[in-house]
Amino acid sequence: MITDKAKDSNYVLFRGESETNRLNRQYNVVKKVLGRTNALPSSINSKGLSKVLDIAAGSLVWTLDLARTPDISTRLSPESRDPIYLYACDISSAQFPPVEETRKLGITTFLHDMTKPFPEDMKGTFDLVNMRLLVLGLSEQGWEKAIRNIYEILKPGGLLLIFDFNTHFVRQGRGVKSEKYEAEVSKEPFESYTQDWRTRTNAIMDRSCIDVNGFIPDLANGLPSMLAKASFQQESYAAFEVPVGAAATRQESGKVQLSGDEGNFLAENYRLIYDAVWSGALKKGVLQGVDGPIDTEEGRLAALDETFKGFSEEGAFIWWVEIVAKRI
Ligand SMILES: C[S@@+](CC[C@H](N)C(=O)[O-])C[C@H]1O[C@@H](n2cnc3c(N)ncnc32)[C@H](O)[C@@H]1O
Repeated sequence: MITDKAKDSNYVLFRGESETNRLNRQYNVVKKVLGRTNALPSSINSKGLSKVLDIAAGSLVWTLDLARTPDISTRLSPESRDPIYLYACDISSAQFPPVEETRKLGITTFLHDMTKPFPEDMKGTFDLVNMRLLVLGLSEQGWEKAIRNIYEILKPGGLLLIFDFNTHFVRQGRGVKSEKYEAEVSKEPFESYTQDWRTRTNAIMDRSCIDVNGFIPDLANGLPSMLAKASFQQESYAAFEVPVGAAATRQESGKVQLSGDEGNFLAENYRLIYDAVWSGALKKGVLQGVDGPIDTEEGRLAALDETFKGFSEEGAFIWWVEIVAKRI
């Protein structure tokens, strides 16, 4: 059910200090999974960058990391021989660091809803746009508009760097573009798999948040064609099957390796997200389980407990994706 609330942009998470801490900690685990020590993938040469924008920057965790990278930090002053100009925007400034901190690093911050066109004087000016973690913020229509708006502000040859995730928790091996995954989790009615706590979790999330807001649960699968439709050329696509909770300690070699603590952190991380989203859905009267509406706080907490117990005892996997696409 997509309701009239399925606007282009409908961010469903909170923006407090604890959310800022969550985003900042999550960033480090993401870097570990992506296998890097700084903000850029090795395919992006920082020497070719002179104007960079972090969109939906949140706490600016990515921009600050970029600004502190040795071969970038020396170029932040406009007086440097080869200056680099860093910009960060968001629909809300609630999680931005204090202005003195961003000013000291020469970062320009501004408010902007990415589903709306950017100011005329920004068009065709950026070498790189970074966009992370919008799966619980933009509807399919919102993504299409955002991708078009980003295309307009990139220089020809400019790059878009996206990091995001699929919202479904899966068993190992039910992955991106795998027929099994699509058949068993995405396409079949949830009712057939209700004995599985992951399916029950996915069903609540789909019915109470994803469907209501028109979000895209299998974003990692859908982004390549959306980017191609907007005339982007895909430069790289990396998908990661990430263990959450107890799955981290039983991970096979050759797969994404996280410590038990990192697996537990991700379990807690997703619990916080689900707590926020399901609490918002209960308040709006749209919280739906496999067996029908959940209309009490006890019912909501019982569902959350089941999910968290599943993470702690058995664990699950979630697909993360990083894409680099070029404006041609
Ligand atoms: C999950 S946070 C991610 C923040 C940051 N990119 C990171 O990696 O930590 C999503 C951010 O998107 C912002 N956002 C949501 N909808 C937006 C929109 N339409 N335009 C710009 N920013 C938006 C939210 O305010 C929030 O700061």
